[in-house]
Amino acid sequence: MDFSGSHILSIDQFNRSDIEKLFSVADSLEPYSSKIKVTRVLEGAILGSMFFEPSTRTRISFGASFNLLGGNVREITEVGSSSLAKGESLIDTAKVLSGYSDIIVMRHPDEGSVQKFAEASRVPVVNGGDGANEHPSQALLDLYTIEKELSQNKKSIDGLRIALVGDLKYGRAVHSLCKILSLYSDITIKLISPEALKLPVKLAEQLTKANIEVIETENLEEGISEVDIIYVTRIQEERFKDKKDAIKYKGLMTLNQSIYTANCEPNTVIMHPLPRDSRNDANELDSDLYENPNLAIFRQADNGVVVRMALFALVLGVENQINKFSKPVNWKINRDL
Ligand code: NCD
Repeated sequence: MDFSGSHILSIDQFNRSDIEKLFSVADSLEPYSSKIKVTRVLEGAILGSMFFEPSTRTRISFGASFNLLGGNVREITEVGSSSLAKGESLIDTAKVLSGYSDIIVMRHPDEGSVQKFAEASRVPVVNGGDGANEHPSQALLDLYTIEKELSQNKKSIDGLRIALVGDLKYGRAVHSLCKILSLYSDITIKLISPEALKLPVKLAEQLTKANIEVIETENLEEGISEVDIIYVTRIQEERFKDKKDAIKYKGLMTLNQSIYTANCEPNTVIMHPLPRDSRNDANELDSDLYENPNLAIFRQADNGVVVRMALFALVLGVENQINKFSKPVNWKINRDL
């Protein structure tokens, strides 16, 4: 695909060589994410950041990535603070905001809404999550993390065995991840969820068509054996018509160190798009896993910065000029803890 000027709405837009290109730009940005250097390559550019659903990592890391490239960020963080609350349509909002921004990132509770917005926008739009549909930048950073973690164990994405755990029905992060994994060979996906929260049939069919071996189970212990990665997800209670229905699935799939030790191969990597629900009734990843060196959730969140910087650089066509506008940073923070 030609990244320059494109909307990034779905993983369906990507092929393997696009992903390789993105990851190689992301690798080259490591000195910037680790604050050894800063660049002003996007000086004067404005990111319109519009999040109409709660967000911590996605919103802040998109904003930080844009700042690290030298650009500025203008934000809307709730419908109530925008003119959507006065009845303005998404289309009018897109027409107006694309006059003020050079690129827009948008998250919205309705499936397909970001695409509709993009069609009316005069600048590229990146999908930061549209309802239960897709979350492409999350899948890209997840795959980047998978590649990095596997390479420590001398493995590659082709041949990956992964367990997807939790709310596979409403989880947009797993929906986009399944799509991206369909581009690779010899993949086994174990789908571990309660019957009512199974992966949508259309997506499961897409996996089978892509020659992925799909194994479905409701049993966590059985599902997490013989995999390279366990990818845990949160019950997406905000997508349930009746919140009480969500409560009955909480805590059914808690992973802790003793379950891990009893069932997993050595060095099985634990991932989660976060936020993990750490309340007592859910406790998706027990705090006793903090000591487990294979708990990759914070490395995964950190990787969001270089991957999102790479997306911005490619879409705005500056990927070859980043170093030309760079200089060493003036400050030092020790992030080792
Ligand atoms: C995910 C999301 O919003 O879809 N979070 C994220 O962006 N890292 C997952 C979730 O909210 O459970």
